[in-house]
Amino acid sequence: MRTLQLANTHVPIIGQGTWQMGEASTRHKEEVAALRQGIDLGMTLIDTAEMYAEGGAERVVGEAIAGQRDKVFLVSKVYPHNASHKGIPEACERSLHRLKTDHIDLYLLHWRGQFPLEETVEAFERLRESGKIGRWGVSNFDVDDLLELNAPACATNQVLYNLEQRGIEFDLLPWCQRHIMPVMAYCPIGQGGKMLANATLKQVAARHGVTPAQVSLAWLLRQDGVIAIPKAVRPEHVRLNAQAAQLQLEAGDLEALDQAFHAPKRKQRLAMV
Ligand SMILES: NC(=O)c1ccc[n+]([C@@H]2O[C@H](COP(=O)([O-])OP(=O)(O)OC[C@H]3O[C@@H](n4cnc5c(N)ncnc54)[C@H](OP(=O)(O)O)[C@@H]3O)[C@@H](O)[C@H]2O)c1
Repeated sequence: MRTLQLANTHVPIIGQGTWQMGEASTRHKEEVAALRQGIDLGMTLIDTAEMYAEGGAERVVGEAIAGQRDKVFLVSKVYPHNASHKGIPEACERSLHRLKTDHIDLYLLHWRGQFPLEETVEAFERLRESGKIGRWGVSNFDVDDLLELNAPACATNQVLYNLEQRGIEFDLLPWCQRHIMPVMAYCPIGQGGKMLANATLKQVAARHGVTPAQVSLAWLLRQDGVIAIPKAVRPEHVRLNAQAAQLQLEAGDLEALDQAFHAPKRKQRLAMV
């Protein structure tokens, strides 16, 4: 698995998302198994959040990483309404309890909320000093938010980025690359939806003998400073996603994909789901 440097350490460029895990007890076993399979295949960065299934996804992650915590780079996120002096340490304790660990490697503000950014940053820094988190970062921040944040200590920005949602290429992605702040692309395969049925994407995939989802991951990962965090429960999906790190797209593929999915020509409002 290829890696890049994030938060003073090397992390795999393909991690594992967990949104919609932990929602149904009937799926618990297969979700835990999928994350373990992904860890075995080198996708050792796991992204979760207190929001996902209101703690349910963190519980699934806690079980998946039991006995192998040291192999995993754990990312979780705090709700904006908890991102205060008082709320952040309390939310972090609850997450740690569900994750059954004593530290989170990277703790993110899920999106901007009502609390001043300075207050959130101070609370993050206190958690970092106490060892409860390794580093902190943000999610769903546009360039103006990052300028206002004005914090070189911010380790990442997790944003919506895939072939259909290329708005960040106009300004946010270059800004993050200039500031050596890796971007974590969420919904990297368009939530497994209509994007994967695009005829050009299918042609490129067929040319390489791979799947459209693998091409969509390789397309993101050909760029510096980009990590993708696909979520997969089906074992076949987990396997295919891990393999996508090896796929090299050619100039002709990139041109065809540019024709099918247009790059932004002007500033676009940051897309979110
Ligand atoms: N910061 C934020 O605001 C934010 C917002 C959204 C998401 N996220 C994070 O980003 C992660 C990824 O986003 P996402 O879960 O919304 O969407 P996604 O990863 O783009 O897509 C997940 C869907 O694609 C399917 N899939 C996975 N691998 C596949 C493959 N190789 N071929 C075909 N289908 C495949 C999955 O099916 P199976 O599960 O059935 O295998 C699932 O239905 C989330 O899980 C979460 O951790 C963050």
